[in-house]
Amino acid sequence: MSSAALDNREAAAQDAWSIPLDKINVANPILFKNDAMWPYFERLRKEDPVHYCAEHEFGPYWSVTKYKDIMAVDTNHAAFSSEPSITIADPKDDIRFPMFIAMDPPKHDAQRKVVTPVVSPANLEYLEPIIRERAGKILDSLPRGEVFDWVDKVSIELTTMTLATLFDFPWDDRRKLTYWSDIATATKESPLFVSDEHRREKLYECVDYFMRLWNERVNAPPKNDLISMLAHGESTRNMDRMEYLGNLILLIVGGNDTTRNTISGSVLALNQNPDQYDKLRANLDLIPSMVSETIRWQTPLAHMRRNATRDIELGGKTIRKGDKVIMWYVSGNRDDEVIENPNAYIIDRERPRQHLSFGFGIHRCVGNRLAELQLKIIWEEIMKRFPRIELAGAPERVASSFVKGYEKLPVRIPN
Ligand code: HEM
Repeated sequence: MSSAALDNREAAAQDAWSIPLDKINVANPILFKNDAMWPYFERLRKEDPVHYCAEHEFGPYWSVTKYKDIMAVDTNHAAFSSEPSITIADPKDDIRFPMFIAMDPPKHDAQRKVVTPVVSPANLEYLEPIIRERAGKILDSLPRGEVFDWVDKVSIELTTMTLATLFDFPWDDRRKLTYWSDIATATKESPLFVSDEHRREKLYECVDYFMRLWNERVNAPPKNDLISMLAHGESTRNMDRMEYLGNLILLIVGGNDTTRNTISGSVLALNQNPDQYDKLRANLDLIPSMVSETIRWQTPLAHMRRNATRDIELGGKTIRKGDKVIMWYVSGNRDDEVIENPNAYIIDRERPRQHLSFGFGIHRCVGNRLAELQLKIIWEEIMKRFPRIELAGAPERVASSFVKGYEKLPVRIPN
């Protein structure tokens, strides 16, 4: 792939269709930073839907790019294991923190069960008015007629507050959660990344902080926050420090980045599609389907990885035992064999929840209903206050082929 293609979307469109197939490496984070990955995925879906990339920083990998093939992998956990990692990067030998998203049954199932009550219908009902009140306060504090960063002032603020409540985390320290989430997933290309040692140091600070909370809660009667659930859960109460850290990172990243990036994505998508923004203003009942459409359109986690446990055929290719298989949700969500006019953002689609963004099978997102609830509330509250939020510059995207999101989104609310 040419360096011009990495920096420039037009060059990428040409490059994607002209280079030899085996030279395509869709996992390059710079492609995502520049939103230049789309034509490469389009070519792979058309010409080589199960594609082998032999040369990559983290070793060779298969790319699965069509909706139905992704479903086939995601729902076959016996042949496609989540161990040792669910991202393209391999765990480093000197720091391993197990988490249940990167485990297979039976341990995965037992640990997942421990935290699931946090998103029970009853708890969502309890959370709804709390989130609504906070959303209202955040929106009421925004400047008018002035440019500000939507990511920082709204998306991070709301989702971090929700996460702090899920953990019953000390309120004034809640931005630590944002930092730990960002540092855990930062690629070398990220402005936050200093070195692997620095990251390790920060994650140790994270687990030390949470250890204090664990010690308080393990000696108190069980409550319905995540730390208490982990401290009292049968399959989690004996976790060592690193496994505790792993599951914390899972819950922090899961509960934070993804929803944050969808909130930012919704403002961007509606501005890029003013006819859809008009449609929404004319009919607020469309908020839930707009939310789902944004989750598809944004695909906040671009991929999940699996590891073949045996030789297996997929899309006419033979995947060998031990091979790394990347399910590109970001591509499957644009597959026109399953989703009509998939590149268009259409807030009143017939089946808006038909998308891959939450995955499928035994690892399907635990927090999917909570994510939708936060999005729905923020938009209901936005529409009560502002008929229009305008873009005031280009978004700055995250340099990652895993977390697909925004560093910054400059906006203005007209007076
Ligand atoms: C729009 C927002 C979100 C998106 C797009 C998203 C996406 C995903 C995806 C793709 C997976 C893996 C699915 C698979 O491998 O098949 C996942 C798993 C998970 N998510 Fe989410 N997520 C979101 C919000 C949340 C929230 C708010 C929470 C926390 C409350 C959360 C907690 C989790 C957990 C714990 C798992 C691991 C499940 C398992 O391994 O069994 N997610 N999510």
